[in-house]
Amino acid sequence: MTIHVEGKPVNAREGDSVSAALLASGLDVRRSTAVSGATRLPYCMMGVCFDCLVTIDGVGNRQGCLVPVADGMLIEVQKGKREISR
Ligand code: FES
Repeated sequence: MTIHVEGKPVNAREGDSVSAALLASGLDVRRSTAVSGATRLPYCMMGVCFDCLVTIDGVGNRQGCLVPVADGMLIEVQKGKREISR
């Protein structure tokens, strides 16, 4: 199946988590934290560390390690603080 990471098509396997697909993609998928801007990658892969937060289909702060990929999924790497539009 194909997912889209930052607008780029990426092949993924059925049953993969979003985090597994991101790590296998070869793309730079490091997010940065909201407070210090430190870089993070998925670490525990079991829902504990929250280092895998991504935006999936427009919904932010999803734990990529707990979400299975789906064909056509749109994934954005979170960079720092979210902007709130008014
Ligand atoms: S990788 Fe640790 S919560 Fe997802």
